[in-house]
Order: sequence, then structure tokens, then C-alpha cells
Amino acid sequence: MLRTHTCGELRKADSGKDVYICGWVQGVRDKGSLLWIDVRDRYGITQVTVETEKADAAIVDVARSLGREFVVSVSGKVNERYSKTDKIATGEIEIYPDKITILNKAAIPPFTIEENTDGGDELRMKYRYLDLRRESVRKNLELRHRLAIETRNYLDSQHFLEVETPVLIKSTPEGARDFVVPSRMHPGQYYALPQSPQTFKQLLMVSGFDRYYQIVKCFRDEDLRADRQPEFTQIDCEMSFVEREDILNTFEGLIRHLFKSVKGIDIPALPRMSYEHAMRYYGNDKPDTRFEMHITEMKSLDTVSVFSAGFKVFDDAELVAGICVKGCANYTRKQLDELTEFVKRPQISASGLVYVRCNEDGTVKSSVDKFFGEEELKKWAVHFQAASGDLILILAGPEEKTRKALSELRLEMGTRLGYRDKNKFSCLWVIDFPLLEWNEGDPNLPESMRGRWVAKHHPFTSPSKEDVTIVQQMAAEKRGESLAKRNSGMEFRVPNANAYDMVINGVEVGGGSIRIHDKELQQNMFTVLGFTPEEAEKQFGFLLNAFEYGAPPHGGIAFGFDRLCSLFGGADSIRDFIAFPKNNSGRDVMIDSPSEISDEQKGELFIQNATTEKK
Ligand code: AMO
Repeated sequence: MLRTHTCGELRKADSGKDVYICGWVQGVRDKGSLLWIDVRDRYGITQVTVETEKADAAIVDVARSLGREFVVSVSGKVNERYSKTDKIATGEIEIYPDKITILNKAAIPPFTIEENTDGGDELRMKYRYLDLRRESVRKNLELRHRLAIETRNYLDSQHFLEVETPVLIKSTPEGARDFVVPSRMHPGQYYALPQSPQTFKQLLMVSGFDRYYQIVKCFRDEDLRADRQPEFTQIDCEMSFVEREDILNTFEGLIRHLFKSVKGIDIPALPRMSYEHAMRYYGNDKPDTRFEMHITEMKSLDTVSVFSAGFKVFDDAELVAGICVKGCANYTRKQLDELTEFVKRPQISASGLVYVRCNEDGTVKSSVDKFFGEEELKKWAVHFQAASGDLILILAGPEEKTRKALSELRLEMGTRLGYRDKNKFSCLWVIDFPLLEWNEGDPNLPESMRGRWVAKHHPFTSPSKEDVTIVQQMAAEKRGESLAKRNSGMEFRVPNANAYDMVINGVEVGGGSIRIHDKELQQNMFTVLGFTPEEAEKQFGFLLNAFEYGAPPHGGIAFGFDRLCSLFGGADSIRDFIAFPKNNSGRDVMIDSPSEISDEQKGELFIQNATTEKK
């Protein structure tokens, strides 16, 4: 070892010891007779003090030649400092060097390696290895490591086995787009990178592994956001001989263990909320339950007075609903205009915002006074459970869009009012998701070719016990075995799925389901999703076959590990919890990827040089 101690280790009690430390030069301060060098490594910073008039001339020369980020080793004696600082853990000591060796010089870094760095996002990404020297970024990766260790500890204690599944697999049409890898040995054929190890973990259940997990990279070619990367990590889990309840309990246990062991926080038992409830009261299937501010519909009010006052925005709307914001009746015109602009932004695209002020003096004033008298508005206030001093914000329009807009408005108000404290954690299960979603498809296609059912979670998710027959009926209809109107699927209530998501602070951190383990039901599900028997066989024959050889009842879940890390770290973006992330357009600007490959490489892979026009 080139060192006896790290740069974060020495304390007052070590005074008088002869030590060796190694690290990077954080900075040099030269005051003439005294010169200080801050030496940094992963563990902290240690001050090296050179008394230039007393010290060996060679030491002074080396000290004066040091630049930022030079790699040095220092040997010397630990001394108790005269002026101590509690800003760093080693603030009570300094080292008087008897030798300073430059292990490597460093070019001037493109940005300062300090907490408040002057480096912009793109520059820091280009020099990510320097960015990673910054304490906050390093701490994020240390947190990630701790979470991975505690995840393994918990799952091991519950008898889960970590099994690796392949990365070169087969492209499947469901879900996001695949990243594909051309095969040299099989001209014209491609592997796909897994979007998740879903089918493999189910096959491991058929193999009798009983409890599987893997902290595993997944790849999805989808549009990026703050909480999405093209390659990300899941804590992927599967269990046999279980029902939903067993899975919820086991993984609630995991989350509570992680909060306790990593953050010292006791999380109460996770409440459960149905998908329907979440959509109705939060406008969203991943509600941020750190605060209330529920969405209230106005339908149940005296509909005559709400809808026949001649106010077209309400009269023409499918849904009129709002939120009651406590204590904000005194919002200024400017603040209300800002909120109106907020809901009118293209991402939300509400047509406008109606407000009702429930003033402290008992009067109620609104932006629609022309249409609704004060008596009427007072009824609204009662309906919204608004007290004096509260502000009611109302949106109207098509149902789905209006719910989404209200959800955004609710979150915005939560942020403005400081209700979304990053040190507060509100965890819950969202359950009873619909099994299927109707996808309208490309409006340019003829109607007969448009629209199909897609799986809300994935095609291996089991319908709830009560709704298995609906799937059977829908499949029969699709095969033309029933007289019901073909292709509409609308005669049937959308079956419920035996699926669940874990939501923390409005972030979907995990999702899973009880799986179909019966070959016939799985075939029916593929039929409902529009696969012909041949297509289903081609894509998923291996799974259907496996189900013939004794598939146990099973189910599982996958957590977004990067999302968990950023939540635990109190951040919005997952990027800072990934050592080498991609930027917003999916590029790694450090290694400059994706990049061209040579014609020779293309030739080997049978890739034609023709550039295809981008759609
Ligand atoms: P799902 O697709 O819901 O389920 O993914 C599970 C969790 O992974 C996280 N996640 C992502 N994180 C970062 N970047 C992304 N692009 C990204 N996409 C998803 C989310 C999500 O909740 N095989 C199923 C799980 C199962 O049924 O067991 C699956 O992959 O936090």
C-alpha cells in the first residue's frame, strides 16, 4: 500500500504519528511563510501544512509546483492544528510533510471539482470521471451501493436466489421499442436487449427456483425523461405458490427494511388504493399522497345550476372538477394568471381556469360571477369543503384530459405550498389496475384496421379471478366464435388485472402482477391482444410450451432501482445516481455513443450501407 491512512481518517488522537496519505490536490493556498495543500480522496480532505522557512527546500519546491488535481503522496507527522475547523472531519489535524511526491500531474480541469461547480450539465457529462470526484455525486453512488447491499441482505434472508438471465435475447412486439443487436453468425438475424427479464424469471419458476431475484440492467428505446434512462436497473423478483397478498407483504417488507437500514426511518404499513380511486381523486395512477387536496367532481352538485347557467365551458364539458387549496383565497391576480398560464401550457393544454375565492370576510367571489350568483358559489364552497380563506380551482373539458390537467395542477400547488418535502416519504400500493387498455391506433388507417387492446402491464399478467371469464369471452369473440360484434370488445367490461404498483411520493417505484400460468388462458390473452395463434407461437412458443410441463402459480414485481436511489437521495433525476448515464437525447457524450461503425464491421454484420430515411 502507498498509504497508511485515507484522507478522511486522521483525528486529534493520531497526533504525533508518522503517516502516509495519497490523493488529489483540491487546492493550494500560499501565504508566503505558510503554504497549505488540501489533499482529497474518496474519504475526505486532509490539510498538509508546509512552513516554508523551516521546511526542506525540496519540499517547498514540490509544494509550489503543485496544480489542482495533481495526484500526490505525502509522508509526514500528524500535528494538532492551532486553528481547528468543524467543516471537515479531519479539521482538528494537519500533516507536516517530510516528503511530497507527485505521482501524476494533471491538466487544468475543465470545471472546478467542488460542490458549487462552475461546470454546466453537458460539460460535466463529457468529463463524468471528474464530476464523479465531487462529493455529492460520489455520495449518490455510495447510497446506491448501500441500497443494493441491503436489498441483497433482505432478499437473501427471505430465501431469494440471485440468478443471472441473458442479455442477448429475442425481440418482442409488446411494450417499448427494443434495442437490437445484429448477429454475425446468423446473417439478417438480430438479438434484442431485454426490456426486462420477465419471461426468463417465469421460466425459472417453472424450473422450481421458487424465489428469484436479480439486480439487473434493462434496456428500453423510449423517450427520455428525468426518471427514465434507455438503460436502467431493476430489482427484479419472482415467487412461486403465492397470491397477491403474499407478494405485497414480502415487498412491503423490502421497502421498509431499506428505509430502516439505510435512512433510519420507520415506514408504517403501506395503505392500498384502487386504480379507480387514484384516478378519481388524484387524476393519476401514481398519486403523491404527501398531501391531500383531492380532486372534487362537480357532477354530483345540483347539476341544473352548474350546467344550465349559460356558461358554455361547463355546459359542453364531459367533466367539471376542481381542487380546494387551503389558505390561498388571497392569491393575487398575477398569481392566478400564472396558474392559468400553467394549465394552458401545451403539455397540459386546458382551455382555462375557473377560480372561486372564499374570502375571510365570508364573501365568495369567482372568475365566473357573470354566470353564477354568490348563493350558488357558496353551495360550491360547501361541496368542496372549502373554509374561509380557501381558494377553489376548477377545470372543465374532456374527462381524461381534465383529470390529467387537474393532477398536474394539484402537484404544482403542492410544490408551491411546500407540501412536497423530499425528506417526507409517503408510500402506498395502487391495486386493481385494468388488464387492458384500448389503443385507438393510427387515425390515418382505415377504421377496420384501427384500434386494439393492449396489455396495461404486460401480456403475462393474470386477470383477477372474477374476470378470467371475461378474457375467455373476449378471446372467443375475437376468434369469431361468438355472435357479439367483432373487433369492438366494447360489449365487455374491461377485466381487472391482478396487478399492483408501489408508489412513493408520486413516483412509480415498482410494478408487478400475479401471472397467468395456464397455457390456455395465456393463449386467450394473446388472442385478445390481437396475436394470431401462429404469431403467438412464434413469439412466445417457448413460454407456452413450458406451461405444459408443470408451471406453478407464480407472481412477482420489479422495482426501478435508479428511481429508488434518487428518492432515497431526495433528488428528482435518476441521472445523478447512475455512474455513467446517457443525456436527454440518449447519448453518452463522454464516450460519444451511439457512433458510426466501419464499413468492414457493417460488412461482417450484413448491414447494408444504405441510409434509410427517418420517418
Ligand atoms: P415495469 O415496466 O413496470 O415492469 O418496470 C418496473 C419498474 O422499472 C422502472 N422503470 C424505469 N426506470 C428508469 N428508466 C426507465 N426507462 C424505466 N422503465 C421502467 C419503474 C417501473 O415501476 N417485468 C415487469 C415487472 C413485473 O411484472 O414483475 C416490468 O418490467 O420504476
